[in-house]
Amino acid sequence: MDTLPVSVLTGASTGMGFEILAELVRRGYRVAALTRSPELLDAKLLGKALADRVEVHAVDLRSRDSIDRAVERILHNCGRIDALINNAGYGLVSTLEEVEDREMIEQFEINLFGLVRVTRAVLPAMRDRREGVIVNISSFLGRVGLPLLSFYNASKYAVEGITDSLRMELAPFGIRVHSVMPGFFSTQFARSNLRLNASIGDGDSPYAPLVETLLSRVQGEINGGDDPRLVALAVAELLENPDAPVRVPVGRMARKFLSMRRELEDREYERRVREYYGI
Ligand SMILES: NC(=O)c1ccc[n+]([C@@H]2O[C@H](COP(=O)([O-])OP(=O)(O)OC[C@H]3O[C@@H](n4cnc5c(N)ncnc54)[C@H](OP(=O)(O)O)[C@@H]3O)[C@@H](O)[C@H]2O)c1
Repeated sequence: MDTLPVSVLTGASTGMGFEILAELVRRGYRVAALTRSPELLDAKLLGKALADRVEVHAVDLRSRDSIDRAVERILHNCGRIDALINNAGYGLVSTLEEVEDREMIEQFEINLFGLVRVTRAVLPAMRDRREGVIVNISSFLGRVGLPLLSFYNASKYAVEGITDSLRMELAPFGIRVHSVMPGFFSTQFARSNLRLNASIGDGDSPYAPLVETLLSRVQGEINGGDDPRLVALAVAELLENPDAPVRVPVGRMARKFLSMRRELEDREYERRVREYYGI
């Protein structure tokens, strides 16, 4: 068993998750990657210098058993867990009126309850050692709303809320808890991880004009967004700097929207957002 610091990472196979994995390996971590796509991740690691420092675990974030089994194996193989990065997530695109129950439940199953299940599983090992760092990847949409994304928004607001409570709960055990709030980043997110409710694209929906104006604009902003390596650098900085801020906005959209949100009164803020998107 080597003595490298060990970080557990969810959603490691693409986008920010893969960049975080690569950055942490470069900085001397062993990374235990929890993924629902082990074959994809193994193929991406094949032949890369990263492979020796990564162990891949197939996990379904909806299943407590699958998470607990993976964490048990990580502790058996590595003996410790120094850091957890809760990164996995997807975006449900739906109006509130047209959403199906199963869609809104699934959004929270992955973005919130999955994060809670993984965190709960690693905490005993961190508490025993009286140290650890947890970084939750939320979003600037954990602080500001956008139409068609109310359930994604709600899940990320919830991640922010849990992050703030947990930080105080865990401070006596020497465990730090942070969030990273990315703006829009060019990853697989808009290409494969936006799930559209059946009414999106239905020309007869009363919300069709909103969808028509907003959806392709937001997809374009995500696809043309910042480089996900910036998020990886922000995560690495949080792990290495005990005095790092509790939450870190990263990227152009996060800086723009969060500073407008801080500076403007509610109605003026929303007027500017509607004007910006033409809605
Ligand atoms: N891209 C953006 O503009 C943006 C902005 C703000 C916040 N974020 C957040 O950043 C995080 C990473 O997203 P990304 O941009 O890197 O997107 P991505 O390339 O789509 O990666 C997201 C990862 O989350 C996991 N995931 C997605 N849907 C899942 C599901 N139904 N069940 C279990 N795991 C699932 C997958 O990992 P595995 O297949 O490896 O399990 C996937 O690779 C997410 O939490 C997202 O909400 C993204």
